[in-house]
This record gives sequence, C-alpha cells and structure tokens, in this order.
Amino acid sequence: MPDGLAEKVISLCVRRRLVYPTSEIYESVAGFFDYGPLGVELKRNLESSWWNYFVRQRDDVVGMDGALITPPSMWKASGHLDAFNDPLIACGKCKRRFRLDHLLEQELQLSVEGLTPDKMQELIKENKIRCPQCKGGLKETQPFNLMFRTQVGVLKDEPNEAVLRPETAQLIFADFKLVQQAARKRLPFGIAQIGKAFRNEIAPRNFVFRAREFNQMELEFFIHPERMDDCELPANWKSLAVTVLAAETQIHKGEGSLLSFNELWDRKMVKTKWHVYWMAACWNFLLELGLDPAHLRLRQHVSAELSHYSSETWDVEYRYPWGWKELLGVANRGDFDLKQHQEHSKKDLSFFVDETKQKVIPHVIEPSWGLERLFLTVLMDAYREKTENNETKVTLALSPRLAPVQVSVFPLMKKDGLAEKGQGVFRNLMPCFSAVYDDGGSVGRRYARADEVGTPYAVTIDYDTLTDDTVTLRDRDSTQQKRVSLAELPEKLNRLLLGSVRFSDL
Ligand code: GAP
Repeated sequence: MPDGLAEKVISLCVRRRLVYPTSEIYESVAGFFDYGPLGVELKRNLESSWWNYFVRQRDDVVGMDGALITPPSMWKASGHLDAFNDPLIACGKCKRRFRLDHLLEQELQLSVEGLTPDKMQELIKENKIRCPQCKGGLKETQPFNLMFRTQVGVLKDEPNEAVLRPETAQLIFADFKLVQQAARKRLPFGIAQIGKAFRNEIAPRNFVFRAREFNQMELEFFIHPERMDDCELPANWKSLAVTVLAAETQIHKGEGSLLSFNELWDRKMVKTKWHVYWMAACWNFLLELGLDPAHLRLRQHVSAELSHYSSETWDVEYRYPWGWKELLGVANRGDFDLKQHQEHSKKDLSFFVDETKQKVIPHVIEPSWGLERLFLTVLMDAYREKTENNETKVTLALSPRLAPVQVSVFPLMKKDGLAEKGQGVFRNLMPCFSAVYDDGGSVGRRYARADEVGTPYAVTIDYDTLTDDTVTLRDRDSTQQKRVSLAELPEKLNRLLLGSVRFSDL
C-alpha cells in the first residue's frame, strides 16, 4: 500500500472532480458529497455491474425501487426507531459530541469492535479519557438515533412526521407480498434495490466511506424456513480461498485462517448454507471487479455487535489505510422483519406453499452493499504510482468494465488535418464506447491525464493515419503500443474491453 494512500486517493478524487464535498461555493455540510463527470460514470458502472450480476443474470431475483421518504410506523415496526442508535458521548465543558467507539479507537489506538456501550463507557473511566479538544470531563454515554426526520404536507398545525429511510431493506420487506405476486415468484427468490439511504452519522469520516447520504445496493433473499440449506454453490465459487475471522477466533484473540467456501460450510462455521452461498456470490463479484483478494477478509460479528434484526452476520472487510473495516455485510435476518411488519400492519405477509398447503413466513439472507464505499475501495485498490526522474506518475489500474472512460482519442497535433481526423475517429467510437477526445498539451501529458483516471486504452492519430488509416493503440497498464487499422479498431477495442484477448496477443 503506497504511503499516505487515503490522502492521495482523496486528493485525486477532489482534484479531478470525481467526488468532492457538496455545495463548495457555500459552506459544505459534513458527510454530503457531489459527483463530477468521471465520478458519476464510475458510480454508474459499479451500479450496473452489481445489478447485472445480482439481478439480471439470475432468474430468482427481481428488482424494485421504493420511496425515500417513509412513514415512521415502518421504522417502529422494523425496530429502527428504538434501536438504530450509536453511542454518543459529550464533553461537559466545551459541549462537543463524539461517537464513543471512534473516540476510544482514537485515544487508545485499539479496535473496540464488538464491545457494548457499557463496556466502552468503562474503558473511558478506566483510562481517564478526557475531551480531546478542551480536556474537559466527559459525560455519561447516551444513545443517539441516526434517522433523519422531516415533515410532509401543508397543514402547519398538523404536520405529518416522516422519516428519510436509513436503509433500503425495509421497503423491500414492506412490499414483499406485492412484488412476489407481481413477479409470480416462488420460494426461494430475492428482491433487490439500489437507492439512497440517509443516516445522521455522529462522526462522518474517511471521505465517502462514512457519509450521511449514500446509496445502498441490497438484496433480500427469501427462503422456506425449513430449506435454509437447500442450495448448491457453483463449482468455481466452492474453491475460492478466503481469509476467515470467525467470532470464536476473535474472542480468543486468534488470527484469521485461509479457507475455501466449501470448507466454511463443511466445518459448520456458518449456520445455513444459503448464507455461505451469498457470501461466496459477493466475494466472487469483488474478484470480477478486479479487487485483490489479499486485501479482503471475511469477519463474523461477535454477538455484542449483531444488529437487532440479525442472528448471524459476516462482513467482507477491506484493509483500508485506517484498518480492516466493513465493505459490505451478509446477514441472516431470519423472519424478524416480515413478522414485525405483519404484526404492525396487520397484513398477512406469509407465503403459501402449494406442495404442503402451508403458510410460512420466509427467512431472509441479506447481502447489503454501500455503493460509495465500494467506489472508494475500488479506487484505493487500483491506485498505483511510479517515480521516475523525480516525477511521480499515477495510474488507476481499474478494470476496463469500470473505467469512467474506456478510450481516449488524441491527435498528435491540432494542425495539418490531424484534429479533424481525430474528431472523426472519436465520433466513430462514441456510439459504442465511453470515449473522450483530448487535444490539449503534449501527448505524454495527455497519456498521464488518462492513466490517472484509469482510462485503459488511448488512440493516437499521427501523420501516417492521414495516409494509411492506421492509429497507435496504447495499453494503460503495460504502456505497450500497437499499430491498428481504423477498420479493425472497434472490434479490437471491444475484445480487449471484454477481456477476450490480451493486449500482447492483439
Ligand atoms: N440493511 C442492512 C444494513 O443497512 P449496514 O451494515 O448498516 O446494514 C450496509 O449497511 C452497507 O451500507 C455497509 O456495509 C456499507 O457498505 C454501507 N454503509 C452503511 N453506512 C454507511 C455510511 N454512513 N456511509 C457510506 N456507506 C455506508
């Protein structure tokens, strides 16, 4: 990992306007971000890769898109009104407020993952921790509810309280019956959703890693409660090697071990096979995006850190510059949510099983992803730098399917008809590829600009192009160049981007 990786990636994001704090011309509010031209392309590529993999390419998952502003009754039923809290500790003197676990991690330089708020409060006392800002005494910890509230309607005296959804999942549970009937699906099947979630984080930090407004990509997979082990892992997932840190190992302060998903199941380290299946699906997707498995691990939640709805959760963690942290989570939510919504709404949310003529409340395995967290992770994993002759060159080795721009078109110079020829080539590629035309500065500088944002291929138009209709095609990662005819360029680019041919074999 390059020194100062976090700062370097954040600085690149802000400088090239991939993503930057919102409302810069006013006063930005912490935890909210805007995405510029390149950022929005990368984000959309991640989103559509996820949707293709988890929804389109499967016949047992369908999609939906729920509202952002929701009635509080939904969140009373889900338990979020009462339990979606973070522990907040305030200074008695300067009144600053801190998230208890973050404060402890900062002051004691240790992970407090899995400790209860009471245990963390004891650590504050034992270590005589004071306010890091003014050294004042700290008060008792209070739970702080993370949901944003708003009001709906025009009646001033009778405002209708509403809640900005803190997760997309509940909309899926509330619509479970409607979607199942519309899609005519039988168990097991899943409903997926990509969309905004809002959390009034006490301490938004690490750029978009912990924001107050972000997108989730969630899948709720509904299974007959007696068939939680009725599935087969595809052969290529079974043998994938993963570093696993089980809850038991964490309690005994042990190290993670390298296992296959098959072993994870055979050793009964996970309670249900569908849970293993979805963890393997997520892991495989990360590999398809090009992430280095050495930077990833699976960590099971210890009982004290389980969310109120979960009986078992495993996170896929990434080795960030600020330590191993959750990239995504896969939870066994059992029948908690459907039962809660059934009870509170008084609507029947059971599923009728034809074969046994029984009504069952399905159990749920939930892979839950944060789009912006994945965005940042992919950038960190792809960041490379090389210093030659006192000049540092940065390359984002992004998978071509994710790169915001797939091909740049550079005329060697603007004169002698090269710019016009370049424009022609660019316009020809534009309908099929995400392409940009750039004629500013030396070709070297233009390559550097393109490498820095991960553009995998560049096409240069020179004087030979004017006579023989060939161009130079350059590969970002090897910096190799090949002469290619314009007639063959789209097909060759397509094969390269699909990964069906290597540049060296072109
Ligand atoms: N429905 C389950 C759920 O929401 P979560 O662990 O609270 O579980 C799921 O969130 C994912 O959403 C996380 O793994 C992370 O990727 C993303 N996420 C959560 N809070 C976030 C925040 N404040 N900023 C950015 N992403 C966040």
